Amino acid sequence: MSSAKRGQSPGRGLEGVVALESAISAIDGTAGELLYAGYDIRDLARECSFEEVAFLLWHNRLPGPAELDDLRRQLQKDRMLPPEVMDFLLDLDPGANAMAALRTAVSLLGVCDEEGETMSREANLSKAIRLTARMPTVIAAFDRIRRGKKAVAPLDSGSLAGNFLYMLNNRPPSAVAERTFDACLTLHAEHGLNASTFTARVIAATLSDIYSAISGAIGALKGPLHGGANMEVMRTLLEVDSGDVDPAKFVREKLARRERVMGFGHRVYRTLDPRAAILREMSDGLSAEGDSRKWFDISLVMMETMEREKGLYPNVDFFSASVYHTLGIAMDLYTPIFAMSRVTGWTAHVLEQWADNRLIRPRAAYSGPRRRRVPPIRTRRS
Ligand code: ACO
Repeated sequence: MSSAKRGQSPGRGLEGVVALESAISAIDGTAGELLYAGYDIRDLARECSFEEVAFLLWHNRLPGPAELDDLRRQLQKDRMLPPEVMDFLLDLDPGANAMAALRTAVSLLGVCDEEGETMSREANLSKAIRLTARMPTVIAAFDRIRRGKKAVAPLDSGSLAGNFLYMLNNRPPSAVAERTFDACLTLHAEHGLNASTFTARVIAATLSDIYSAISGAIGALKGPLHGGANMEVMRTLLEVDSGDVDPAKFVREKLARRERVMGFGHRVYRTLDPRAAILREMSDGLSAEGDSRKWFDISLVMMETMEREKGLYPNVDFFSASVYHTLGIAMDLYTPIFAMSRVTGWTAHVLEQWADNRLIRPRAAYSGPRRRRVPPIRTRRS
């Protein structure tokens, strides 16, 4: 019998607790394996486009050619933002937090969606597609407007990855950049019952709407212990580089101060996160193409030191930092980019939750005092 069943408190942070059944992805933390609906993440990143992966997550099977064309067309058609959302982005303070801006824009997208409160599976799948199509436009417009530039209207053709890089820079990306970024989106799309996905399912289980679930998930992803770590990794790489510090010494000193080194460790993986292994190859490949290998080289020394000193391996956030930096993307967009990919996994989980819904409502083991008498206000100390 589990400790939870005996009415005792489970492990802190719900570690090891199986909260529900899901057919969307499987993680083997010991073997370092991640499957989306039975397909190895390494095969998907190599063989499939992000659009195929999105279909896989929503339908639990890979699309046929006509189905893929159809999804691509829908994702292209839905890229434009409602004027209310554009106005919100135009009115924002240029120093606004990128994840806070995305969270609010997504909530506003819900207000502007005529189908926002329609709860059929068909309507909710259409909303999942609209969210996936529009989040890249929000992020690119946010970034350009704060840089004093005009937002670039989305293309009505091409891949989601290519269109995002085009909107960000107002020029088409190279084929290598587009393919690399597309694979990054695949690698970030889904990861079981992580903190943000659990948040989305808890909200969905109350039968609230999909936009509420995704706004909440974005809030959870924002934290530096979750998706926010990729930005912190880049901050660390810049700190090491600008201070001309030996990366190994930097890591050792941080550990000696009992500080966390961002981008390392994972609740589930006890070995190398398979996504980190692919991102490491990408970071290596991109650095070979570009004018600087230093970010990859610093990362490598940090990785070796963390493994030697602490037995900890990089997670998905670690090498994404050097990949995105080499692609010329601003540091604080890394977590929003994570969200614009993970929205496919989040919405897949929301749809799965609704297919067999029950309110998610655990209990807390009460640890406070019992049976206290209420003293009169005049006798209480402030
Ligand atoms: N740097 C240094 N020490 C670490 C790190 C780290 N990145 N991660 C874990 N540890 C240490 C802890 O200090 C602790 O050591 P101790 O037993 O000597 O006190 C031990 O490893 C266990 O750590 P916990 O926090 O209990 O492990 P948990 O499973 O709760 O943590 C987490 C997982 C939050 C990801 C953690 O590894 C961490 O903080 N990593 C850095 C942040 C990060 O990269 N987050 C992204 C995760 S991936 C994602 O969400 C997309």
